[in-house]
Amino acid sequence: MRSLPLDVRKYAIVVLSLLSTTHAQSVAEGTFYKGGGAPGAAPYQLVDDYQPSIFFSKFNFYSSYDPTYVTKDVAWQNGYVQEGDQAVMSVDTTNKWPRGGDGRPATRIISNNAYTHGLFILDLEHMPWGCGTWPAYWLLGPDWATNGEIDIIEGVNTGMSNSISMHTEAGCTIAGSGQTATFQTSDCDHNANGNSGCGSLLDGSKIPNNYGEGLNNNGGGVYATEWTSEYIKHWFFPRESIADNIASGEPDPATWGIPTVNAQGSCDIDSNFNNMSIIINTDFCGAWAGWVYQSQFPECPQNMSANSLDSCVDFVGNNPSYFEEAYWEINSLQVYQMPEVAQPSASYTTSLSSITPAVSTAGTSQLPVGPGASTQDVSSAPYTGPTSSGTPTGSAPASASTPVLCPDYNGTAFTDSNNVQYEIHCGFDYQGGGNVYAAESFENCLGICDNISGCKAVSFVGGNGAGSCYVKDATGSLNYDGSTNAAFKSVTDTVPLLNLTQHP
Ligand SMILES: *[C@@H]1O[C@H](CO)[C@@H](O)[C@H](O)[C@H]1NC(C)=O
Ligand SMILES: *[C@@H]1O[C@H](CO)[C@@H](O)[C@H](O)[C@H]1NC(C)=O
Ligand SMILES: *[C@@H]1O[C@H](CO)[C@@H](O)[C@H](O)[C@H]1NC(C)=O
Ligand SMILES: *[C@@H]1O[C@H](CO)[C@@H](O)[C@H](O)[C@H]1NC(C)=O
Ligand SMILES: *[C@@H]1O[C@H](CO)[C@@H](O)[C@H](O)[C@H]1NC(C)=O
Repeated sequence: MRSLPLDVRKYAIVVLSLLSTTHAQSVAEGTFYKGGGAPGAAPYQLVDDYQPSIFFSKFNFYSSYDPTYVTKDVAWQNGYVQEGDQAVMSVDTTNKWPRGGDGRPATRIISNNAYTHGLFILDLEHMPWGCGTWPAYWLLGPDWATNGEIDIIEGVNTGMSNSISMHTEAGCTIAGSGQTATFQTSDCDHNANGNSGCGSLLDGSKIPNNYGEGLNNNGGGVYATEWTSEYIKHWFFPRESIADNIASGEPDPATWGIPTVNAQGSCDIDSNFNNMSIIINTDFCGAWAGWVYQSQFPECPQNMSANSLDSCVDFVGNNPSYFEEAYWEINSLQVYQMPEVAQPSASYTTSLSSITPAVSTAGTSQLPVGPGASTQDVSSAPYTGPTSSGTPTGSAPASASTPVLCPDYNGTAFTDSNNVQYEIHCGFDYQGGGNVYAAESFENCLGICDNISGCKAVSFVGGNGAGSCYVKDATGSLNYDGSTNAAFKSVTDTVPLLNLTQHP
């Protein structure tokens, strides 16, 4: 199908990547920690401690793409972040943000440091929750999805069940056995099933208080993620039953029983997951929370004369004080590793100084290839949708022999099936206004633009396959980011190419 009518929104897959979460941000510098991958070969040692009193100094603030996300300076000035006994990350709760504008300000942070293998222990007391919210705590490697994505906490709106999932390139599937959570999808390939990834649902009725209001009312809990060469396992501990050896700083997953999620199967973990940074963000509406806002969350206040996404955006924009619940409150976040070459008889202490990052970046202190490393941007999204509700409808990417808009038409004019001419710019984002729609392809995104009066341009995230189509109604500018594809109606618009010169 070359183009989709507007009502694509009714059946649009909710599992597509969303612009607001698709671009990691520049990481100026950081340390790379590589730990041993053999399960149980040695005790875990603390290698990186995100102490609440210095929490945000260990992160970069992603702010360059989605207007919702603010810079570090704005976040501090407006009190969206606070350090102390706990690290708190909140959103604007005083202003109205009408549809079509920037959206309610929030933050997305990505760690300076990156890791291969390890035990990541997050103790949180409160997480964002409520109508319109889409919070996530996740790990992301460079060059999405080459080095993987592990989504540890993710959900939308007033949900009470966490989704844990992973996204990779082709060739990684998960068996789904040996876990307490409800297994949902096996294939981690981001090109399969509309990028639903391989995931499990922590059904709140079976695993109480694992997400949202339940978690918050229960004083929070601990999410522990163990990443070895053999598997990636997650345990959720509600506040009242956190393993003693976590509290004592000598965590030993071997004593924790059946994991909540057991991600292993036909998947070479070491070739699919590398150099991952930690990301925490609070998003609103968008491709998951927005798409299911009317159909799955009728209890949320609705604007019935608007579509699901706009209904969500209207509620979020018009009700600042409601979002006083939309904050992360973190008691601790620690990364433990085994020595890279585990020496079973070695005696070493558990002090921080006893461990040297296995691949030392001393000298440069740079993370040369990382989320948003200076010459390159990665494109990614957390697990973006419930998979229980049916078969995703994403289409396969165009075959190699068929000319595709990107890169075949890069920098040239393309006339679509409705006889509308566009100028194609691969690797560029068109910045200026807009709403998001699911599209089967970049070309399909042009068809959506054709049908919307006032559409001047589009940005498409998803290469040539299925993805998110951002319809732009304002004159904007083209900015190179390496992964988004833009098109504008060449006859009606001229656009400054802002960042062409910086293109590597
Ligand atoms: C535009 O909308 C009409 C009416 O819904 C539909 O028939 C047509 O296919 C749509 N065109 C595009 C390009 O989406
Ligand atoms: C991970 O980062 C380290 C340090 O920058 C680098 O040496 C290594 O090649 C990276 N590994 C992968 C798979 O990108
Ligand atoms: C509800 O949606 C309609 C149609 O988009 C819009 O005109 C109206 O302003 C919205 N109402 C509110 C309260 O946001
Ligand atoms: C498209 O062309 C521009 C201008 O020559 C170039 O900077 C960019 O890298 C190209 N994009 C791709 C994906 O090749
Ligand atoms: C161009 O890109 C650089 C980073 O690559 C960014 O700092 C700068 O703000 C961009 N320029 C514009 C005008 O967007």
